[in-house]
Amino acid sequence: MTDTQLTATGLLASLGAEIPLVAAPMAGGPSTPALVVAAADAGGLGFLAAGYTSPDELAGLIAQVRRRTGLFGVNLFAPNPTAVSANAYARYREALLPLARGYGVELPQWQTSERDDDSWDAKLAVLTRAPVPVVSFTFGIPSAEVVARLHAVGTLTAQSVTTAAEAALATERGVDALVVQSYAAGGHSATTTPAEPVAEIAIEQLLADVRRASDLPVWAAGGIVTPEQVRLAIAAGAEAVAVGTVLVRSPESGASAAYKRALAELGEGDTVLTTAFSGRPARALRNAFTEGFTSLAPLGYPAIHFLTSPIRRAATQAGDIDAINVWAGTGHREARPDPAAQILRRLAGEGLAR
Ligand SMILES: Cc1cc2nc3c(=O)[nH]c(=O)nc-3n(C[C@H](O)[C@H](O)[C@H](O)COP(=O)(O)O)c2cc1C
Repeated sequence: MTDTQLTATGLLASLGAEIPLVAAPMAGGPSTPALVVAAADAGGLGFLAAGYTSPDELAGLIAQVRRRTGLFGVNLFAPNPTAVSANAYARYREALLPLARGYGVELPQWQTSERDDDSWDAKLAVLTRAPVPVVSFTFGIPSAEVVARLHAVGTLTAQSVTTAAEAALATERGVDALVVQSYAAGGHSATTTPAEPVAEIAIEQLLADVRRASDLPVWAAGGIVTPEQVRLAIAAGAEAVAVGTVLVRSPESGASAAYKRALAELGEGDTVLTTAFSGRPARALRNAFTEGFTSLAPLGYPAIHFLTSPIRRAATQAGDIDAINVWAGTGHREARPDPAAQILRRLAGEGLAR
């Protein structure tokens, strides 16, 4: 470690991290055990993303990480469904049908998916049977009872928040840290109120708002892609910085070939916050899908996620970057195909002139 490198403090240091960098959880492929291990190798903290996996798969992923490091976390989607009416669902399904026919795929009916809770209870059971150092939550804020259950097995908890009000509620529920996610973040917003617009507040301001509402340690996330931005977030009171998009093209990331290529090829374009893919606001690079469907898509998570999945799966297999969700934060141009540990160490200041 060089003396220009930032060092971990507080909760992150108590977990054994050396640099204040977190490899943010990225469900749907990117967050592999290899990426989590690379984060630990860099001296940071990596997260497995439990979202969309089965409880058995999750147990397997945890076992793989454990063979290489004890320093990691697991992220869960906390249930917080947004209902969609049968009519709104049917209208959106109708709009998607020509694309689905083009790929030769069937689209599901509304009733089959609306109640899916991503196996919340079974995943909690996995995590209480074989406890991990940290569990973080997004989309919803779990009950105090769930937080206490994880504490009872020695697990620290972190909550992703996008507003001071969410920070206050999560603090009341007893979590140990807050991941303060700004509107600039790639992928889904952690907002617990997806019907309300995600406010475009700079991360420094959002950190200040959250710190007035809570005394908990805060980790900053969203659009942070350079060592200078990491330093600014830390100067604004963050204990650590969590990065996602900047790691997607790394060799350890399990993002599909189409997704990695899309980040490189659509890199000159800009990002858009859209419900078109999942019925929940998420930031993606503009492509034909976001242009065609953002204005038509209703809110409705997870029903809309399952509705568009067959198209996205087929497009990914076909390498068609116009019909996939190219999740990307506003800093996506800094995403390069470098080794993940190198990216994290560089963000922590390694190699910077003093
Ligand atoms: C591909 C992708 C998948 C994501 N999946 C999750 C997830 O499963 N859980 C979660 O809490 N956040 C998820 N996020 C958000 C990240 O954890 C993090 O907040 C975000 O990437 C930070 O912004 P940045 O991408 O600009 O670095 C995802 C982000 C991306 C880019």
